[in-house]
Amino acid sequence: MEFTEKEEGLVKESWDVLNKDLPLYSLHFFTQILEIAPAAKGMFSFLRDSEQIPQNNPKLKAHALKVFKMTCEAAIQLREKGEVVVSETTLQYLGSVHLRNGVIDPHFEVVKEALLRTVKKGMGEQWSEEMGNAWTRAYDQLASAIKAEMK
Ligand code: HEM
Repeated sequence: MEFTEKEEGLVKESWDVLNKDLPLYSLHFFTQILEIAPAAKGMFSFLRDSEQIPQNNPKLKAHALKVFKMTCEAAIQLREKGEVVVSETTLQYLGSVHLRNGVIDPHFEVVKEALLRTVKKGMGEQWSEEMGNAWTRAYDQLASAIKAEMK
């Protein structure tokens, strides 16, 4: 099914909201990840050794930003080209960094759910099921490209 301009717009609009307060939304995102999968704590260097999720940690913010932004870029590509195109160099890097840190396929579902909850929090009343579906479609395509590289 075609990825429509409307779906692209819904993703971009909510990405703009997240981007305006990355410290807040990246913290929320990781809080959700740990709520869904407490064991994920051990994988992240910046979570491993602390009792609480660190506030304003650059690595934590960098990872949240990458997930939000690359999913938004995936939505744009889906609308423009009908597919998600990540450069081979980027994919190789993402594949190896995740393999090295013990990431496996089911973790991508955890991160997707945390991402959707974060978008929902950011959008409040403006959140809709259609918006959630648009993020889901873009994320799934991006995640399958990364997972394929990890094989
Ligand atoms: C590292 C992106 C999904 C766990 C990284 C890095 C990037 C990245 C770019 C390199 C470090 C950085 O620049 O922050 C993404 C994207 C994802 C995704 C775009 C999905 C679309 C996941 C998932 C997990 C995960 C599902 C597991 C729950 C990690 C870990 C690191 C990492 C543990 C090492 C971070 C550290 O300890 O400093 N990821 N990631 N990522 N990623 Fe992901």
